Amino acid sequence: METMVPGQMPRAGLLLLPLLLCFGPETTRSINPDALKVIVNYVDKFRPDKDGQYAAAVSLPQAACNLLDEQQLRAYLNETELNEMKKKLNSKELFEGQNITAARPKFQKNHPTLHSEFLLLSPDQNGISPISRLLDKTRGQRACPETHVPCKECGNNCYKKWSPGQRCGWNSCLIFFTKNSPCLGTCLNASGCFYIRDLMDGVFGAINNNFRALAFRQVYPPDKAQKRKALWEAWQTIQNAPMYKCDNNGCASCEEKCLSQNPCLEGVPEMGAVPQRAHG
Ligand SMILES: *[C@@H]1O[C@H](CO)[C@@H](O)[C@H](O)[C@H]1NC(C)=O
Ligand SMILES: *[C@@H]1O[C@H](CO)[C@@H](O)[C@H](O)[C@H]1NC(C)=O
Ligand SMILES: *[C@@H]1O[C@H](CO)[C@@H](O)[C@H](O)[C@H]1NC(C)=O
Repeated sequence: METMVPGQMPRAGLLLLPLLLCFGPETTRSINPDALKVIVNYVDKFRPDKDGQYAAAVSLPQAACNLLDEQQLRAYLNETELNEMKKKLNSKELFEGQNITAARPKFQKNHPTLHSEFLLLSPDQNGISPISRLLDKTRGQRACPETHVPCKECGNNCYKKWSPGQRCGWNSCLIFFTKNSPCLGTCLNASGCFYIRDLMDGVFGAINNNFRALAFRQVYPPDKAQKRKALWEAWQTIQNAPMYKCDNNGCASCEEKCLSQNPCLEGVPEMGAVPQRAHG
């Protein structure tokens, strides 16, 4: 979508800021976006029939996140299991498989809807979340204690970061896919009860840089009313989960600081609906 071009030339000072933002430092290593695309495309073939919101977390051996061929990926992500996932999602149930867990939003009478991202990340009364259970199940080690989701007060760096040789760490490649980007009103709303930043950041903080991604297919439509800057800044609060937009064009990183060129913000207006006034 084209962005609106204002009729008047903005002042020079306003032009300078985005330019400065375009020259940020280069990032460290990350997952291969082409391999990420293979995983997301494959999983998304088993999305619920009505193509509504759902989220899925996939935990694979690290080598499986470098595959560029779906045929090879099938050895790790069993098709029988994914069909099972689709069935569960169609009946709006939580799915917990060997290498993947998935959920749809849960609508509640007289209570706020529980978002699918939250359902995968939030602990039950025993302190275990579907995603912590998944990561425990797929760590290639025996005799490790079950991981408990740290309490809220613990913040976002409560799990030990995995390193080679570390016992009982989460040595997986973790891909978290959500159809819609995590929304500002609930998931990224720090004053709400369903804030996922710490839960998400905690889990991803335990995973090696090269083997983690938070991927979405589209910007949550109501969030398109946000300005690019507000949306991007909210996404940035999830520091440990590198974000990608994965659609028919492939997977593109959302890290681009030059927001007019950020592929994840395509179709989001540059300045919001209300014209901005220059200050000073
Ligand atoms: C599931 O994950 C485990 C542990 O990472 C891995 O050994 C296995 O190959 C994966 N796939 C299947 C189908 O079990
Ligand atoms: C796939 O998963 C199903 C159910 O978990 C299992 O019965 C089947 O043997 C698996 N197939 C392969 C090829 O691993
Ligand atoms: C954030 O959550 C609070 C409390 O639920 C709510 O009052 C507020 O409107 C929310 N903010 C946004 C931007 O939706």
